[in-house]
Amino acid sequence: MIEVAIAAAKAAGKLQRAAFGMEQVVNESLAHDIKLELDIKSQELIEKHILDHFPKHAIVGEEGVNGDQESDYKWIVDPIDGTVNFSYGIPHYCVSIALQYKHEIMIGVVYDPQRDELFTSERGKGAYLNNVPMKTSNRGDIKDCILSLGMAKTAESIESAFTQMNFYAHRAKKLRNMGSAALDLAWIASGRLDAYVERGVNWWDIAAGILLIESAGGKVKIAPNSIGKGFEVIATNGSLEMAFV
Ligand code: IPD
Ligand code: CA
Repeated sequence: MIEVAIAAAKAAGKLQRAAFGMEQVVNESLAHDIKLELDIKSQELIEKHILDHFPKHAIVGEEGVNGDQESDYKWIVDPIDGTVNFSYGIPHYCVSIALQYKHEIMIGVVYDPQRDELFTSERGKGAYLNNVPMKTSNRGDIKDCILSLGMAKTAESIESAFTQMNFYAHRAKKLRNMGSAALDLAWIASGRLDAYVERGVNWWDIAAGILLIESAGGKVKIAPNSIGKGFEVIATNGSLEMAFV
């Protein structure tokens, strides 16, 4: 199954790399979001890979559902995480694919096509960056840490991010707002970033990254978003203690 996830992520990544920097067909442009035709094409490619191998499984993706939604096996797909970055020519986005069995995430794959970096994890078998074991950082004091703060699409999410920024910017080494939740989580798993905070993420933004972080020694706290839709997430390297302010 992980091989299928990797092949699907790499195929979508190849498509995206070939289209990167070219004019894109924009399906929808909202105040704080963009939907490209390429989001859909990437998801279709991923679905084909998965359903060719596992026709009875379910797919739940940012661009819709496919397969048998009653299945205990659910593939959680974000075909391009960081679509706004992609469409502005910023080479920081990824493909995120997780496999869930009942309620447990069993496989997490995040692929960064621009750097050719593949982050993988199978439950109980550790976490890897391009097949090399990865570990979260051990920085436990906020003054040494780089925190990435996400802003979702709603006014509440943006306001909450400002509140977190206002508080943590004075305490952390640096703050970042990078535009791809899934890649932020993968970067925590690899030890580059120390924590990630966002209110208003969707399950496909975080499912793969959660397993990567937990398998690399970190911790993820998830709850229903207390001020709006989706989830609120605090992901850390496992040494740093953090909360929403
Ligand atoms: C978005 C990105 C962004 C995060 C948003 C997500 P998309 O996903 O991950 O960093 O702040 O909450 O919705 O729309 O690029 O797939
Ligand atoms: Ca996303």
